[in-house]
Amino acid sequence: MEHDEDISNNSGNRSFGEVLGVSASRRKFMRGSLAAAAGSFIAPSIASAQADFDSDDQTWDDDELEISAFEQRSSAIEFTPVPTGEASGPIPNISEEYEYQVIIPWGTPLEEGVMEYDGDPNTRPTSEEQAAMVGIGHDGMHFFPKQGNAGNRRGLLVINHEFGRNTHVLAPDQLQEVAGDILPNSLEAVRLSQHAHGVSVVDMRKRRGGVWEVITRSRLNRRIHVNTPVTFSGPVAGSALLESGGPALGTVNNCSNGYTPWGTYLTCEENFNGYFGDSTYDRETESGSWTPTAEQERYGFSPVGFSYGWELFDPRFDLSIPETEQEANRFGWVVEIDPNNPRSAPVKRTALGRFKHEGATLTIGAGNRAVVYMGDDQRFDYIYKFVSADNWQTMVSNGISPLDEGTLYVARFDEDGTGQWLEMSIDDPAIQAAGLSSQEEVLTYARVAADALGATPMDRPEWISVAPNQDVFCTLTNNSRRGTEDNLGADAANPLAPNNDGHIIRWRDAGNHVGTTFEWSIFVIAEDTHAEGDERTFSDPDGLWIDPNGRMFIQTDGGQQKEMNNQMLVVSVNDDPDNLDIRRMFTGVSGDEITGLTTTPNRRFMFINTQHPGNGDPSLTNFPAQQDGVTIPRDCTMIIKRKDKGIVGS
Ligand code: FEO
Ligand code: CA
Ligand code: CA
Repeated sequence: MEHDEDISNNSGNRSFGEVLGVSASRRKFMRGSLAAAAGSFIAPSIASAQADFDSDDQTWDDDELEISAFEQRSSAIEFTPVPTGEASGPIPNISEEYEYQVIIPWGTPLEEGVMEYDGDPNTRPTSEEQAAMVGIGHDGMHFFPKQGNAGNRRGLLVINHEFGRNTHVLAPDQLQEVAGDILPNSLEAVRLSQHAHGVSVVDMRKRRGGVWEVITRSRLNRRIHVNTPVTFSGPVAGSALLESGGPALGTVNNCSNGYTPWGTYLTCEENFNGYFGDSTYDRETESGSWTPTAEQERYGFSPVGFSYGWELFDPRFDLSIPETEQEANRFGWVVEIDPNNPRSAPVKRTALGRFKHEGATLTIGAGNRAVVYMGDDQRFDYIYKFVSADNWQTMVSNGISPLDEGTLYVARFDEDGTGQWLEMSIDDPAIQAAGLSSQEEVLTYARVAADALGATPMDRPEWISVAPNQDVFCTLTNNSRRGTEDNLGADAANPLAPNNDGHIIRWRDAGNHVGTTFEWSIFVIAEDTHAEGDERTFSDPDGLWIDPNGRMFIQTDGGQQKEMNNQMLVVSVNDDPDNLDIRRMFTGVSGDEITGLTTTPNRRFMFINTQHPGNGDPSLTNFPAQQDGVTIPRDCTMIIKRKDKGIVGS
C-alpha cells in the first residue's frame, strides 16, 4: 500500500549520514582503512571510499533493472577474496570489488520524535524509548520488496533481535552484581532488556545515488518484543500446556528466520530457556525452591538461566511460581508475522513443534505442499521437517494456514548415506512408551518425542537452505563434546569427535521434499580448510543461503583461525567437494558474529549483520561509530553491493 512515498526530507530526522557520518581525518590513524560511515558506501581503501563519499551517483538509479539473461545463467564467483592477513581488527573488511553501507544500528528510531541511542557508555534508552527503536542482536532477516517495479528500492526489512547481554544493553547504574553474575537491578532495567529483544519491521528506501535510509514516519515500522501480545494456532492452541494465568505475550531469542510465499515472516525462538530462572535461588548457597521437571531438564532450564535475571522482577520468567508454571511452554516456537499488517498479532505455529528453533526454511514440495526445514541448535539435537497437509494455495484459499495442519518429522541419518524422516505422532508406540500422552505433548515436548524415535543427534544444526537443484544444505556449527567423556562418539553424518569447527551436510529428499527417505553426503568439513597456507580457512559455519544460481553464502560464528574475525564466504554448490573454490567476501569486527542474509529482488544489494560487535566491549571496537575506545559498539546491518552493480556474490 502507498504511504509517504514522496517525502524527500525525512521530517527533520537527521539522515543516517549525519547520524553516523565519520570524519575521515579522525580515522587516519586507523590501520589505513576505514571505519563505518553509515549513509555512504565504504570500500576497502580510503581513495575509493572518498570517491563515493558525498557523491550523488545517479547511475545507481538504473539498478531497478531486472536480472539479465546472462546473469540468470551465470554462476560465476570472480571477486577477489579478502586475504586472511587483512581479516581482523575493529572494523569490517570487504572484497575490493565490493563496498558496504551501515544501516539500522541498535537504537535507530522507528517513530518520529524518538532520539537515536548513539552508543553513549553512560546512558541507555528508557524501556519505553527502546520499544520504538531498532533492537539489539541483529540476526535472521528478510527483505519484503514493495510490490511493482519499485521493489528494488523500497521494501520492509524484517529483522530478528536475538539477544543482548546485560552489560551491553543496560547502563552501569542499572546493574547489580550477585555472586559474579551481572544482573538488572530494577523492573525498568528488565523491561529495557525485554524491549531490546524481539523483531523489527523497518520501512526502507534507496535514495538517488544508491544510499538506503529508514522512512521514520512510515506507519509500517513496528517493534515486536517480549511484551507484545501474541496468539497461538495449530494443534497445541487452547491446550492446558499453554495455560499460564495471563495473556500470551512476546517472543524472545529470535535467531534465524524464514518467509512464506503468502507474504509473511517466520521468526524462530532459539535459546528461550536462558531467560527463565528461579527467583528463590541463592547464588551463594546454590539452593532454591524450584525443581525442574524431566521436560524442563531436556530443554535446559536452570535456576539462573543465562543470567539475564528477568525472574527477579518479572514473575512470568520465574520458574518457582506455580501459577506461571506453563509460561516456559509458551516459548520455543516458530512465530508468523504479517509485516504489511502492523496491527496483526504474531502467531505461534505449534504444528512446527517446540525446540530451540534456529530457522524455518520454507520450500515448495510435491503437490504444492509447504515444507519447512528446521534445525534445533544444541549439541546432539536434531533436524526436523514439517509438511503441510495439502496444497498450500488450496489451504490458504480455504482460510487454513498451511502451517497449522500437517506432519512433523525428525531426521535419522544412516551410516550408508541414506536417511529416514520419522513421523512424530502420538500413535507411535515408542513415543507412548516415553510417557507422552497426546499430540499436544508430542509437539510441546518435541525433543522428548524425537529422542524416543531414535533421531540422529547432530553437531548443532543451524541454518538450512535449498539449492536450485533441490538439494538441501544444513550448517552444523561445531560440537566440542562429541566423543568426550561419556558423550556419543563420531557417526557417519557427524564424523569428527570432537568436532571443534563444524561442517555442512546435504541431502536430497526421495519425494521432492515430501518423502520419508533421503540420501545425504557431507559437503565440506571446516577443518579441511585449515592447512597451512590455505586461504579458504573458516570455522563454525552458521548463517547459510544459496542463491538461484547455486552460489552458497556461508556466515560464521566462532573462533576463526589466524585470529580472523568472523566472516562471510561464497562457494558454488556445484563445485567438486574435493576442490571447493571458497572465497572470503567480508569479515566483521572483533568479537562479533556475521549473521542474517537477504537481498533485493535483483540481488544487487545484500543485507547482512554484525551481531554483538566487540561483545559490547568498547575497548575492542566502537563500530559502527568512529573508533574512540569509549563508544559502545552496536549491532547493525550492512548493505553490500558490487561497485560495478553486478549480482552480489559474483
Ligand atoms: Fe542463534 Fe544457533 O544461533
Ligand atoms: Ca545462528
Ligand atoms: Ca551460532
